[in-house]
Amino acid sequence: MGSNPIIGKFRGYDGQVADCGLQQGEGSISDNIDMSAKMERPLVIPVILGTARQGRQSENVARFVFAQTKKRVNVETELIDVRELPMRLDDAGEQMKDAAFSATIERCDGIILVVPEYNHGYPGLLKHALDMNLKEYIHKAVGICGVSAGLFGGARVIEGLLPVMRELGLVTIFEDVNFGKVETVFDEQGNLLDQSYVRRVDKFLNELIWMARVLRHGRKTIAGVPEE
Ligand SMILES: Cc1cc2nc3c(=O)[nH]c(=O)nc-3n(C[C@H](O)[C@H](O)[C@H](O)COP(=O)(O)O)c2cc1C
Repeated sequence: MGSNPIIGKFRGYDGQVADCGLQQGEGSISDNIDMSAKMERPLVIPVILGTARQGRQSENVARFVFAQTKKRVNVETELIDVRELPMRLDDAGEQMKDAAFSATIERCDGIILVVPEYNHGYPGLLKHALDMNLKEYIHKAVGICGVSAGLFGGARVIEGLLPVMRELGLVTIFEDVNFGKVETVFDEQGNLLDQSYVRRVDKFLNELIWMARVLRHGRKTIAGVPEE
């Protein structure tokens, strides 16, 4: 069924200690928590690039966020491009599910959305793609990186997405990254010009990884609410 939407894949075992925002200190409780984090199976946190526009700046953002995510210890990530997702335009919802995309969402513990602001809203194609799954999202963490030509860095599109995230059963975090005036953040080759985004994405990933771990623990160990 069409090409594979996954354009990059990496399992982050490069030995960097940056997981979960924990500080290392010999014999500390944090050390014990960090050890237990490393003994768990890797968290799966794909990055979804939410626009298919020709010349999209969001691709630079997605590639940068993907690269930062794959540096994390015990995190497995993939870059999913909505442009590559096989999607019908004469249908909507779960009946047009793409098997590979659904399997990735089913397997994941959290999701990063990279979303440009289009007329203060989100690209229709991203919504069309997200609507293909439903139960696969439930009780999983989501973080959003907003992208805009304007100063606000997609703050409005992030706010606009929150009710959608809630309806999908995703749990939003309270850290976002706002890539405002995005054309000044990367050069023409897509290299990062503004190094402050390294720290911003780090903070965002710390929170997302924490929430993804908490929710995975909850999914595994706490019984769900019985249906009526
Ligand atoms: C249809 C459309 C609507 C847009 N609306 C806004 C907007 O409301 N606010 C804004 O700051 N930028 C807006 N932009 C500019 C984008 O934010 C800008 O292109 C930015 O690079 C992110 O989108 P991109 O990934 O498609 O490049 C719009 C661009 C398009 C194509």
